[in-house]
Amino acid sequence: MLCLGIESSCDETALALVEDGRLLDAVLASQVDMHALFGGVVPELASREHYRYMGPLYDALMSRNARTASELDVVAVSRGPGLLGSLLVGVAFAKGLALGVGARLVGVNHLHAHLLAAGLEQELSFPALGLLVSGGHTHLYRMDGPDAFVTLGRTLDDAAGEAFDKAGKLMGLAYPAGKLMDELASRGDAEAVSFPRPYVHNDTLDFSFSGLKTAAAAFLDSLPEERRWPRPVRSAEGAPRTLCDCCAAYTQAVVDTLLIKTGRALDRHPDLKTLVLAGGVAANSHLRRQAEALMRRRGGRLVTPSPKLCTDNAAMVAYAGWRLAATGGHHDLSLEAVPRGRPLPDDLRHGPACRTA
Ligand code: KG4
Ligand code: ZN
Repeated sequence: MLCLGIESSCDETALALVEDGRLLDAVLASQVDMHALFGGVVPELASREHYRYMGPLYDALMSRNARTASELDVVAVSRGPGLLGSLLVGVAFAKGLALGVGARLVGVNHLHAHLLAAGLEQELSFPALGLLVSGGHTHLYRMDGPDAFVTLGRTLDDAAGEAFDKAGKLMGLAYPAGKLMDELASRGDAEAVSFPRPYVHNDTLDFSFSGLKTAAAAFLDSLPEERRWPRPVRSAEGAPRTLCDCCAAYTQAVVDTLLIKTGRALDRHPDLKTLVLAGGVAANSHLRRQAEALMRRRGGRLVTPSPKLCTDNAAMVAYAGWRLAATGGHHDLSLEAVPRGRPLPDDLRHGPACRTA
């Protein structure tokens, strides 16, 4: 079964082909440099760029794999959550293509796709605990199957990726700051600065990161002139000690907060022995190492995609779509794109393939 995956929920236009659960190829056009000029994603510009790149990327992917549209069995598309205008570009393209060639249309939950991505590289067994940490979301899920996710906790304000990006901006790091902060943190001493572990002294599995950003702002304001550094900071090479220490301490505060709640979720669901860690922030080397240690201590297993499959990509969408289609799942042309903040409807239909040819 050949499945095309389409991703356009934020600032990456991406397409990928998955055949029988195996990734054949993927293409991606990133808009990150353009949005960096504005310090964050500009939705209107993002939609226009998706519209500009979608067709040429599709042609490039199909021609370099010597495939034609009529060979597609499934067209899977990220249908939310994300930026509405951006999602609409992908969803409209997917509907037209599926209708034109008689392929099955599958709308994929972008967040679930992040968590399923690990299945492209290793055995993904259920049930499992899922920790999804990205630029827009921080969710803990109980995962009972590829389409059976129960939300256990979520952020009440900023996502973990936003916590990195917003604090990074205060420190003079370009948007998105996560990757550079990861490198700077590796050169610093996490004990040198004290940051809080926010919203852990309660009984919930929810998160709140906005206070941490405020703590970083207060620390930076308190620095005497001689300990400040020139901006912008473009690389970790030769970075000042105070900046590296600040990044190390900040990263450790985010990692501790995420893992305290993860440990709490595992305590409450003792049948879950696997932690699936995914989303852009799952590329963070400190989080990966410490999540692995946590699961080792608990006699469980960490499953996480390789860093290139953690950030937004279409391989995860194609793979999730393939898994859903393999169990008979599909949508019809009434499939809606769902913006961030609105719940995704449980509207996947089940039945035989709708391919008529
Ligand atoms: O999943 P993703 O590509 O896009 C969304 O769906 O949001 O996640 C992007 C986020 C950004 O906030 C970026 O700063 C963060 O992932 N990120 C990282 C790292 N690489 C990307 N955060 C921490 N450490 C990293 N190595
Ligand atoms: Zn994402």
